[in-house]
Amino acid sequence: MIELNEVTKEYSKGVAALNGVTLKIEQGEFVFIVGDSGSGKSTLIRLIMKELEPTSGTIVVNGQNLERLKHKQIPMYRRGLGVVFQDFRLLKDRNIYENIAFAQRVVETSPRIIKKKVPAALSLVGLAQKYKSYPKELSGGEQQRVAIARAIVNEPAILLADEPTGNLDPTNSWEIMKLLEEANERGTTVLVVTHNQEIVNEMRKRVVTMKKGVIVSDEQKGGYNNED
Ligand SMILES: Nc1ncnc2c1ncn2[C@@H]1O[C@H](COP(=O)(O)OP(=O)(O)O)[C@@H](O)[C@H]1O
Ligand SMILES: [Mg+2]
Repeated sequence: MIELNEVTKEYSKGVAALNGVTLKIEQGEFVFIVGDSGSGKSTLIRLIMKELEPTSGTIVVNGQNLERLKHKQIPMYRRGLGVVFQDFRLLKDRNIYENIAFAQRVVETSPRIIKKKVPAALSLVGLAQKYKSYPKELSGGEQQRVAIARAIVNEPAILLADEPTGNLDPTNSWEIMKLLEEANERGTTVLVVTHNQEIVNEMRKRVVTMKKGVIVSDEQKGGYNNED
């Protein structure tokens, strides 16, 4: 369902952020992507989002070769993806309900459906009561839960999370990972970039380790390999 074939990305000529990466992720998998800073993890995520184009190689998502996606098909493609970042990226001047509803209106969901789906998504992340609050009135952990609600409200086939717990304490980090795991249990394919060694080691998921733009290990029920 997500297939990278010999993907190389050079931001400047001759310097590869990703260097011949081949990776296959099946529908319904939960995969951690780990590796040192600068190893190419975010580049990988942005290529899958089609925010970047590979310098060479091919990326196929749900049978769709991203190279062949026309410009006007990109919004439709992204509708099938939920994305969560380290810095939450909520709209500061809108309340929680509106943050999620906005994501729905952008993809032209009908008001009737929005009224049903937004509270449902907020319930899934345990924030049904806080729908009127503004982002600044919430803790970091709560803000990230809103970002997850926003990412899952369209029931995406794929959820991409780039260091979603990077700004959170251990308790909140675990809560966020559990929400990602629950989304996975509902059938969503989940890719999580993280530095959280303890969580990776305890969750026993597939672990892809990157180093300097290449995949150096890929293990089922893997751990966080820190040795050089
Ligand atoms: N927009 C960019 N322009 C130029 N170089 C970049 C850009 N984004 C990332 N890089 C470089 O690509 C390499 C991989 O970066 P990145 O994918 O962000 O790694 P990670 O997420 O693992 O920290 C790094 O050497 C980084 O400096
Ligand atoms: Mg990164």
